[in-house]
Amino acid sequence: MSARPLLIPGFSRLLHGGDYNPDQWLKTPEVIDEDFRLMQLAGCNTFAVGIFAWTSYEREEGVYHFAWLDRIMDRMAEAGHKVVLATPSGAKPAWLSQQYPEVRRVGRDGLREPHAGRHNHCWTSPVYRRKVAEINAQLAERYARHPALGMWHISNEYSGECYCDRCLTAFRAWLAERYGDVDALNEAWWTAFWSHTFTSFEQIDPRDGSIDALKLDFRRFISHITIDFMRAEIAALKRFSSDVPVATNLMGTHSGIDYAKLVAELDVVADDQYPAYTPDAPDLWGDVLRVAFKDDLHRAFKPDRPWMLMESCPDAPQWKHPVQLKRPKLHQAEMLQALGHGAEGTCYFQWRKGRGGGEKLHGAVVDHVGHAQTRVFQSVAELSKNYQKLNEIIGSQMQGQVALLYDWEVRWALEATEGVRSQREAYLTTCIEHYGAFARQGVAVDVVSADADLSRYSLVVAPQLWMLAPTVAERIARFVEAGGTFVATYYTGYCDQTNRCFTGGFPGGGLMDVLGIWNEETDWLPDGATRRVTARPEAAALKLDSSYAAERLCALLHLRGATALLDYAEDFYAGTPALTRHAYGKGTAYYQATALGAAFLRDFYAGLIDQLGLHRCLGRELPANLAVQRRLSAGREYLFFQNFSAEERTLPLPGLGYFDLLQQQDVAGVLRLGGWDSTVLRREL
Ligand code: GLA
Ligand code: GLA
Repeated sequence: MSARPLLIPGFSRLLHGGDYNPDQWLKTPEVIDEDFRLMQLAGCNTFAVGIFAWTSYEREEGVYHFAWLDRIMDRMAEAGHKVVLATPSGAKPAWLSQQYPEVRRVGRDGLREPHAGRHNHCWTSPVYRRKVAEINAQLAERYARHPALGMWHISNEYSGECYCDRCLTAFRAWLAERYGDVDALNEAWWTAFWSHTFTSFEQIDPRDGSIDALKLDFRRFISHITIDFMRAEIAALKRFSSDVPVATNLMGTHSGIDYAKLVAELDVVADDQYPAYTPDAPDLWGDVLRVAFKDDLHRAFKPDRPWMLMESCPDAPQWKHPVQLKRPKLHQAEMLQALGHGAEGTCYFQWRKGRGGGEKLHGAVVDHVGHAQTRVFQSVAELSKNYQKLNEIIGSQMQGQVALLYDWEVRWALEATEGVRSQREAYLTTCIEHYGAFARQGVAVDVVSADADLSRYSLVVAPQLWMLAPTVAERIARFVEAGGTFVATYYTGYCDQTNRCFTGGFPGGGLMDVLGIWNEETDWLPDGATRRVTARPEAAALKLDSSYAAERLCALLHLRGATALLDYAEDFYAGTPALTRHAYGKGTAYYQATALGAAFLRDFYAGLIDQLGLHRCLGRELPANLAVQRRLSAGREYLFFQNFSAEERTLPLPGLGYFDLLQQQDVAGVLRLGGWDSTVLRREL
């Protein structure tokens, strides 16, 4: 296995620290002195500084004050800490908003927003781009060679859209570039609908919600213009510091930006997560899976590099309802889950609670009391000690056995379409349901977009692959032909990349031949309603149950070469196929015509995992509510365990010679994990 880069070059420790905002404490230097003492006590080593510090650098236009940051950077270097230095574009100074109204966003209603909040600047304002480039260049020029500088933190949680005239003009120019002439756009968008045929790009307004393709393309444009803005921010830094890694903090599966494209501009994938990990969470395991899915998505963005949590909370964020305190064991479990999935750093929002502002009650390492004798501080310090025992995992990596396709453009196309059940979160939820079946088996999944290289997998799962961008169907066909196993579901291959339905039957784009079925119609059941499906003898190879309950959506199929494995047993479509298998080339393609729930997904994927001989990290199905991940380095395996239940577990291990890195002791054959406990085992292979 080739050596993986470190998150911060030359810094071979797990990163542990948080957002540090000394700019809020400049009037009380004794607090800052105390911070540096407490940072040592907490064993933290990495701090994201200056994220919202613009007014502390530039109180009036062009007059810069960096002396305070010089001091902070020097002290960080003296202490051996690393700084993730932010560009401050996430929150603009009031003077800037006042003097240059164009930097403020315009809403859908055409009104310019007042100066307020954050994350709300116009994407195309030349003034804003210039002011950001200037402040970024100031920071880069000054600190590029500073020994404390470890990474750049570009802005903060990019999001949102602006409807000012300049942004609308940029949208139209982007369309003109994409389609060449307006008739090509009319064709691609099916604009004869409601007499929408345009005779000039100038006539197009993204607030027109009646054309699916317009909605889809506006989302593409917003993603593009956000990435373009970020690229400009990065360029200003790279002029002075081409070798310092660059990250921005992502928000999991945030729908507004195609992160799969955005990360191409970055060196490091960094994420913010705030799951509701409490014993009373109504769906704790659901939350665990949502986090795990997101982790495997982010990990697979750059599979040969580690990623990190830029933000998480050692306690409870003030915006959660209820604001339930984080149990100490769940704090560790949450962090080890990230490490298990390939992270090599977990940081917090934030280091010290501020005295005012909207987040003064947000959990932080240092509380208002100001000393180290708090439960949360001790929990963080304890974790730092454990991280010292875990530094050896650096460089090891997870190896995905399965590709699960999750694609922002597919999500947008579904969300733009009236009449499908997949509005809002349903596409994501469905992908996570399929993912959950693999998590239960302890099988590592790479969550990748539809344009990913599939050739290194033996199994590809594509829930609701509604939209087929050019080449997607061909690449799937080649994958199956070459011997791959492909799993599709209802809502596959309905539309092309501008969300126009395929003619000639679904799934279109060539997938009908691969799947060997025609999906004629889809019945959308009311919530809670079910239809029974029953197994045919042909299902025996997968060891399916004799019957399951179909929910939500029942697609009605005609066989075109495929074999039925399950049939509907109720309603007017009783006796028609609900699950099919088709031999295509050297491979096999399955079609799940309906949502059959967790029990079916578990049986079905367990069967495929057996048939394909995929690696289960414990060699068998995991008990409920136990998460396990496996990282590998040359000759070594690391198993990460998180027990998300109050029950004690006794877990037979898949081999001998395991060593518990946290307990620093050998584990003979069986691992005992108390309620909510987590740990990491090592074994020489
Ligand atoms: C109305 C309109 C039609 C069509 C249908 C859809 O009847 O007149 O143009 O939109 O609704 O149900
Ligand atoms: C986000 C932001 C932080 C902070 C936290 C609070 O992640 O990036 O600045 O507001 O939320 O949970």
